[in-house]
Amino acid sequence: MEGTTSLRIQQAVRRGPPVTLSVNGEAMVAYAGETVATALRLLGFRRLRSSPRAGQPRGLFCAMGVCQECVVRVDGRTVPACLEPVRDGMSVVTHVDGRDGLSL
Ligand code: FES
Repeated sequence: MEGTTSLRIQQAVRRGPPVTLSVNGEAMVAYAGETVATALRLLGFRRLRSSPRAGQPRGLFCAMGVCQECVVRVDGRTVPACLEPVRDGMSVVTHVDGRDGLSL
């Protein structure tokens, strides 16, 4: 994990029930109703993939499924993290470069 401190607001927030997901093989907690992008950002991840040619960091940008900068692999599928809701038991892989099929 990139960050070690949660960015979540800790008080006066209503959240869905906690779900456990695997991020790069590490178990982490998110909350039902969040997108994968939201969960990853709040867990401290800013870099979600690398650009295919230069290997430059890419991450959340438009947050509405247009730019594809946030693509990650979820349960073996390449998806925009900003459109994918978290689910209990899902597997998320970030930081995969374009040579590994995450570039668009
Ligand atoms: S941030 Fe643009 S598609 Fe997800």
